[in-house]
Amino acid sequence: MKTIAVINLKGGVAKTISSINIAYTLLKEHGKRVLLIDNDKQGNTSKFFGVHSYDVPGVAELLTDRDLSVHDVIQNTAYEGLDIISANMNLLRADKEILLDVSRPQQTRLNKALQAIQDDYDYCVIDNAPDINMSVINSLVASDDVLVPIKVDKFAFDGLEQLVEQIDDVREFNDNLVFRGCFITMYQRTGVNVQGVEYLAQATPYPMFDTKIRKTVRVDETTFSGKPLLDYRKSTAGQDYVYLVAEYLNMC
Ligand SMILES: Nc1ncnc2c1ncn2[C@@H]1O[C@H](COP(=O)(O)OP(=O)(O)O)[C@@H](O)[C@H]1O
Ligand SMILES: [Mg+2]
Repeated sequence: MKTIAVINLKGGVAKTISSINIAYTLLKEHGKRVLLIDNDKQGNTSKFFGVHSYDVPGVAELLTDRDLSVHDVIQNTAYEGLDIISANMNLLRADKEILLDVSRPQQTRLNKALQAIQDDYDYCVIDNAPDINMSVINSLVASDDVLVPIKVDKFAFDGLEQLVEQIDDVREFNDNLVFRGCFITMYQRTGVNVQGVEYLAQATPYPMFDTKIRKTVRVDETTFSGKPLLDYRKSTAGQDYVYLVAEYLNMC
């Protein structure tokens, strides 16, 4: 199983939409078995797939309850081959609890838990919170690759330096971790976007994907339908996620 952390310290850059659609594209276009982990207390990925709940244990419980196994927190989605571990506000408490409980390692819990399902899935995609906290650090320790969605504006790369520092720190626990690159989301053919992309390409010391995810109203529509783009109406963004996943698979 290869694990991909989708992360950016900023909110509203399409981390959740990208995680959902990268996961679904790996299933639909490439026939991969995929586990999606919602690692944000907002629980938007869980809500998207209709599994947001306080009755079923999720990632918060997996990180704090040593008696739980990963099998206890995996839920099915409506799509065969795409499973999910949900999140809710309990992650707030879990992040504090991990720090207080020094009786066992704090950074490697998710990684350890995922060992039991290495052969059950081809890919694990983790949708992270716009934060560096214990659950995010756990996700980086458990990951092979980091993908960073970026929205074009003057502040697009704010926080990236801190994120890259964090990735370097995490290598103490996980020297497999590779920062695969940033990709632009919500792209429009407006002057500011075209020039912004040029500016970013020159200004950034970070790797950039060629694929840009175009902005389309279809994306907001899918949040209501609970269907990933490729299972919804034909869309530019759906096609772009197909290109993005192909570009990613090509570099691995
Ligand atoms: N390609 C796109 N075109 C149009 N709207 C998009 C696109 N990608 C994301 N969005 C919208 O942008 C908002 C933020 O996306 P989301 O994935 O929730 O960001 P994050 O998880 O980084 O906070 C949502 O309302 C989402 O529907
Ligand atoms: Mg999100």
